[in-house]
Amino acid sequence: MSTTDPALAAATDRALRAATRAPSVHNTQPWLFVVAPSRIEVHLDRERVLTVADPDAREAQLSCGAALVNLTVVLRAADHDVVTDLLPDPARPDLLAVVRVGGYRLASPELRSLATAIDRRATNRRPFQERPVPLTHRRVLTAAASGHGARLVLLDTPKRLETFAGLLRRADHLQEEDPAFQAELRHWTTGEPGRRDGVPRTAGGPRPIGGGILTPRRFHDEHGAAREFEQDPLVAVLLSHGDTVLDRVRAGMAMQHVLLNATAAGLSASFLSQPTEVPYTRTALRDLVGGPGHPQTVLRIGYGHPPAPTPRRPLAEVTRFPAEVPS
Ligand SMILES: Cc1cc2nc3c(=O)[nH]c(=O)nc-3n(C[C@H](O)[C@H](O)[C@H](O)COP(=O)(O)O)c2cc1C
Repeated sequence: MSTTDPALAAATDRALRAATRAPSVHNTQPWLFVVAPSRIEVHLDRERVLTVADPDAREAQLSCGAALVNLTVVLRAADHDVVTDLLPDPARPDLLAVVRVGGYRLASPELRSLATAIDRRATNRRPFQERPVPLTHRRVLTAAASGHGARLVLLDTPKRLETFAGLLRRADHLQEEDPAFQAELRHWTTGEPGRRDGVPRTAGGPRPIGGGILTPRRFHDEHGAAREFEQDPLVAVLLSHGDTVLDRVRAGMAMQHVLLNATAAGLSASFLSQPTEVPYTRTALRDLVGGPGHPQTVLRIGYGHPPAPTPRRPLAEVTRFPAEVPS
């Protein structure tokens, strides 16, 4: 990155690396950053949108919202002021955000702790401990979502959890039976050595014994032993106010703030997003949660051993400089 301020250049480099550590659906990493001194654009990379699982790019937009949070959290933790404009140009709908880096602004300890959580966060598909998430942490997570105009609803009664588990089974079954969905999934889970995207075999979890309460997405043909999962999982549904691109980017920001706060509190999380990807179950999930909003993703949260990080494409592949971008 070309800037006359070496400290800002170093912080920008760290922030871009952090942005690429964000979670993304099937680890597609559907982002592109256009980097100028003191200004970073976050674009949706249409080439990396899942055409079957995510035909209107909703989950890709969530993923970019998560990357945007990592970017700004690291810049802020380096004591830079940051101003973010979402969807700044109606003529360029895939330009999701412009981040402008300003002068000095001291970061709070909370912000620094979120910045250090970025590299520790990883999707944990293994069983969690039989240890309830304390109320104080639950409150922190719901507040992290509402800070971005989203709602995190915890399914904390057996009846709601059971109904959710039924929707999850149904959506998962429809996707398992859909050859186009499966072909796309296989493309992103080949796990070839040296591949810098997709979900590698090492990131998969075991199948739950007897099917378990919750049905995880089957990424690979697991050969390992099935295992018992936690008996009383904490499941949280993230909802946005509307379902526009702006709502989805903000929901992605809320999702990442929830995940970073969870990591900072020593918690792990995995996704159970199948019911949000099937129109019928998405509507039923909305009815189950009640109140306003559109379900954007679903998280399972608990205590577990941190998994190994998954690969990312190098910065050179996901960054451009204004001179390289056709106007
Ligand atoms: C919008 C969204 C939906 C996702 N849905 C699922 C899912 O249904 N099941 C799952 O196991 N992982 C899901 N993931 C997790 C990604 O597979 C994961 O973020 C990616 O492989 C990168 O790994 P990491 O999160 O460990 O860095 C989802 C992630 C995002 C952002």
